[in-house]
Amino acid sequence: MTTLLSLSGVRTSYGNIEALHGVDLEVREGEIVTLIGANGAGKSTLLMTVCGNPPVAHGQILFAGRDITRMPTHAIVRLGISQAPEGRRIFPRMTVMENLLMGAVAAPPGAKAPKPNDSAASCEGTPSGVTPAPGLSSGRPAPPAGNGDGAAADLERAFRLFPLLEERREQSGGTLSGGEQQMLAIARALMSRPRLLLLDEPSLGLAPLLVRQIFDAIARLNRDEGTAILLVEQHAHQALRLAHRGYVMANGRIVLSGGGSELLANPEVRAAYLEGGVGVRPAGEGAS
Ligand SMILES: Nc1ncnc2c1ncn2[C@@H]1O[C@H](COP(=O)(O)OP(=O)(O)OP(=O)(O)O)[C@@H](O)[C@H]1O
Ligand SMILES: [Mg+2]
Repeated sequence: MTTLLSLSGVRTSYGNIEALHGVDLEVREGEIVTLIGANGAGKSTLLMTVCGNPPVAHGQILFAGRDITRMPTHAIVRLGISQAPEGRRIFPRMTVMENLLMGAVAAPPGAKAPKPNDSAASCEGTPSGVTPAPGLSSGRPAPPAGNGDGAAADLERAFRLFPLLEERREQSGGTLSGGEQQMLAIARALMSRPRLLLLDEPSLGLAPLLVRQIFDAIARLNRDEGTAILLVEQHAHQALRLAHRGYVMANGRIVLSGGGSELLANPEVRAAYLEGGVGVRPAGEGAS
């Protein structure tokens, strides 16, 4: 399998404090790779570093053979990386449809999606800290200009993956349940047709049934469309079962890696992350 994403010796700092101390990690075409680790290990930092913010201090990140180490986030998105960030950041006053169409602003050049807008492109599928296009920020926005077949097909695909969102297409994002918002955040990240989807704790705070639905959707997306997925999860057991391979992170370093089932059987992983060890946070508890 060809390597899609590779990090070598990646170091990232927040001010004077180094959070990633030389991380090596690889995601191959068509793979689901799960990253587990205790709170504060550096998992979210790793995903954000791939997206260019915080920037890499040392080391190198390659994506599809291109060096993206110093690329701005919008250029990284254009190459085909999209992130549904930890904590579901959606536009609460926009409808489900409008939220999804905002995700399409980062679709690759040539795609008949809503007009690409570099300033709106972000690894978050959309726009944290970005002003939506005129007409989209009000309570009753008009659909984005230039909405063509590409976006329609992407919407159809999003609704196929999460049929519940289609039922709620006219409902404002802020009134969706937590699980529905999470589905919307993932669906929105997919609107830019990424080759690699970064998911930061998609099941955070969800009841078991919804966790299963989210995991099922991730598996289907990977199986049916071949989208590669780098998945950060506290539900270590389910996430490793789903994964082709996994990595364990502790204190800003990768400390273990292997096949999903290999890690599931590993006594250290079992003790620390699968049997109520220190790495596991009770479901529903918030994270940074
Ligand atoms: N914006 C920031 N400024 C300063 N330090 C930060 C910032 N974001 C994260 N850190 C620190 O970097 C370290 C790694 O944090 P990170 O959020 O990546 O951990 P995590 O593995 O995602 O944890 P969790 O499971 O709780 O989400 C922590 O010590 C955290 O306090
Ligand atoms: Mg985190």
